Amino acid sequence: MNFETICVSPEDELNFSAAVRALQEGEVVGMPTETVYGLGANALDPEAVKKIYEAKGRPSDNPLIVHVASFEMIDPLVSEITPVAKILMEAFMPGPITIIMKKSHLIPDIVSAGLDTVGIRFPVHPVAQKLIDMCGLPIAAPSANLSGSPSPTKAEHVMKDMHGRIPYIVDGGECQVGLESTVVDATGDWPVVLRPGAITIEDMEQVLESAGMRNPKKDLPQDISDIEGETAAILEGAAAGADPLNTPISQAFTVAEDETPRAPGMKYRHYAPSCPVKIIGDKTGDDFDNYYVYYKQEIMEALLAENTPVGLFVGEEIAENLKILFANKNEEIIYYIYGDSEDVEAASHHLFDGLRTLDEIHVKMIIAPAFPEKGLGIAYMNRLFKAASESDAPVAQKSKRKIMFVCSGNTCRSPMAEAICRSIFHSTGPHHMIEDPETEATLEVTSAGTFAEPGVEFTKYTVDLAGYEYEEDLSGRTSQVVTDELISDQDLVLCMTADHSKYLRFKYPDMGDRIFSLQEIIDHFTIPNLSGEVTDPYGFEYLVYMDTAKQLDTIIREILPEILKSWGMD
Ligand code: TXA
Ligand code: MG
Repeated sequence: MNFETICVSPEDELNFSAAVRALQEGEVVGMPTETVYGLGANALDPEAVKKIYEAKGRPSDNPLIVHVASFEMIDPLVSEITPVAKILMEAFMPGPITIIMKKSHLIPDIVSAGLDTVGIRFPVHPVAQKLIDMCGLPIAAPSANLSGSPSPTKAEHVMKDMHGRIPYIVDGGECQVGLESTVVDATGDWPVVLRPGAITIEDMEQVLESAGMRNPKKDLPQDISDIEGETAAILEGAAAGADPLNTPISQAFTVAEDETPRAPGMKYRHYAPSCPVKIIGDKTGDDFDNYYVYYKQEIMEALLAENTPVGLFVGEEIAENLKILFANKNEEIIYYIYGDSEDVEAASHHLFDGLRTLDEIHVKMIIAPAFPEKGLGIAYMNRLFKAASESDAPVAQKSKRKIMFVCSGNTCRSPMAEAICRSIFHSTGPHHMIEDPETEATLEVTSAGTFAEPGVEFTKYTVDLAGYEYEEDLSGRTSQVVTDELISDQDLVLCMTADHSKYLRFKYPDMGDRIFSLQEIIDHFTIPNLSGEVTDPYGFEYLVYMDTAKQLDTIIREILPEILKSWGMD
């Protein structure tokens, strides 16, 4: 990896063809799209894809999206195009959307990170299309930033991050959207947005509904007799009043972002300027009239605390007024003007450039405006929140953590898991904080059911088993249902099946990075030879309960040390 990186204009036929050839020969090329710049390589060549990760400086633990330049290119890459996927493709491609579908055998594991799906993106940017078209190859590409910096929206950003690491960057000008594409899972009956972007869930629902598709969020099935098992129980609960319609907010999206794999109770670290980012205003509605006052207050505080220079990501009219008010403070206040104050498109378009630019000048803090969380505002706030929450400090070291186990009814599986987990924690302790061995680490374990009827006694076998085998007294304990209050208090929620975890993530999107099924957490820590789907022993004999307990015991013994470690506990 030691290139003399050449920045190529699309008009420069000679160098453009050389960039095309580099891609065909398995090299990595920086390429423009309408969202952000990508770091492209031949998606069908694992060796080429490996070089993307080398250039980015991150391990290959996350799936890459695959870029195409025609609908014909998509067919061989996927094994199924669901009706939802088909409608979304027709409506929004080419454009700023990534549609996740079941992959075909052509997609190497290094691209899909071992998943059986692949994200397909058909960019509308003419230079991206020309590049892919001339290569004649599907191009795998993450955003072209180094691990830890905002996605690049100009060729010069890519040059800054990738200089010496790749042979070519194709300069397609400033990216029009400026935020990464909407990532939507279209493998099921209805789309699930994993990362908000310029194309919103409302946009998608509108085209699907006009195409005659039934929106399951609007009409839950009345008759669930033809659906079986766990899913039926979950739908039953939903139909009975549990509300799966949680309005998505910008912080709620839980796609495993590229720079950091999902880890229990840990935040992603990316888009992180090295100074704090302060968001002003109200994300729920328009109060732009007050924004001038908010900026003024923040600036005065910064000046008073000598926390300067302070960087403003700010609209034009507000900046004009502030410049008059703080006329003699040119050194202390740095303005990055994105356009009209209330123009969310302009703010989105300039956000990453603004963060990069202000950060490079080494401002002590950045002040940026909130936008109402609707339309593109959802994606804008999603990226801004990440920049704000991750810029200041490492994840707090807490010496007390809470785990909740979840099944459907909270009478058998989850109470058993609770007792087993508590018993293992105590028998392997005392535990301490790794950074601060004087401090004892404590764990509070509880359990609940997605559709538990509150107050039902734990089954007799559950209580017996916890007592005999684990000296845990569950007698007199009764079931509780998962509530907003209960779940938001947990550091980690571990579910008996993937149906439970999917449902809870859907219902509590902002808890997404803390909700796992046992299988998901096993996969997360890549523990081999363990099966994590725990079936319900309810109604069976004691021996079956013992089998369930054995399975839970094996799983928890493996995962608990990993979980504790991720919390800085030994
Ligand atoms: O706008 C964009 O999407 C840009 C341009 C270059 O196309 N690309 C981009 O790629 O942002 P990247 O790798 O930085 O982000 C892609 C996101 C990641 O969070 C990844 O985890 C998710 O999409 N993703 C990709 N394939 C997936 C899959 N099969 N299932 C779930 N998530 C997936
Ligand atoms: Mg990225």
